[in-house]
Amino acid sequence: MIDHSQIDQYHSLDGIPAMTSPQVHAYLTQLGRSWTGQGTAMELGCWLGASSVALLRGLAQAGYNMPYWAFDAWNVNKDQIPKAKAQGCHLILGQNSELMFLNNVRPVYSDIISCRGSLPATLTKYDNQPIEFCIFDAPKAEPTFTECIKRLSPHWIPGVTVLGLLDYHFYQRHKGAKRIKFRAPVDYMEKYGRHFEVEKKWDNECAVFFRYLKNF
Ligand SMILES: C[S@@+](CC[C@H](N)C(=O)[O-])C[C@H]1O[C@@H](n2cnc3c(N)ncnc32)[C@H](O)[C@@H]1O
Repeated sequence: MIDHSQIDQYHSLDGIPAMTSPQVHAYLTQLGRSWTGQGTAMELGCWLGASSVALLRGLAQAGYNMPYWAFDAWNVNKDQIPKAKAQGCHLILGQNSELMFLNNVRPVYSDIISCRGSLPATLTKYDNQPIEFCIFDAPKAEPTFTECIKRLSPHWIPGVTVLGLLDYHFYQRHKGAKRIKFRAPVDYMEKYGRHFEVEKKWDNECAVFFRYLKNF
């Protein structure tokens, strides 16, 4: 069982407000460093860029030379405002935060393709190159979760691609209908887990990282 008091303590990454922990950031950087050169990296649900920056730091060290694909609505909602404020960042309801994201990530890696709008629709922009790191921090309920998987999984590389599900245990924070709704990533792994192995998990984190092993 996850200790949710830990999850709710947000720590900015060098001034960038984050909804992921320093522990996950450190792992993302380590993961980026392990880039093999076979595929692109992407995040679905980048917000202000903390988790993307963590991954890009490692990728840059590994010599990453492909576009980094970033997907988000970048439309500030009421839940984001107090989380950003607690980390020293003032957001306004309805604000377009795409430029804030880009200003945070571009000093680390400049070749960013940002696709603003609703997932899964914005995934039509993806150029279908093989994917090495596929980070989900927006899709956590159906039908979005499975539609994003269906769109991207044909481009995963067996034995190489890492699928990071940053909200894997998020359902544990909810009861009733929401609990069922947010179980989408867990339901998916219960059905298709034989195609993956757990690459990284923690006792006190929502996030779990899986390596894609074999074709569907
Ligand atoms: C938990 S936050 C991401 C936090 C970020 N990864 C970090 O570590 O700081 C989730 C993000 O997903 C985006 N999002 C949620 N549902 C979405 C959807 N259907 N389409 C596009 N973006 C979405 C929100 O705008 C928000 O920025």
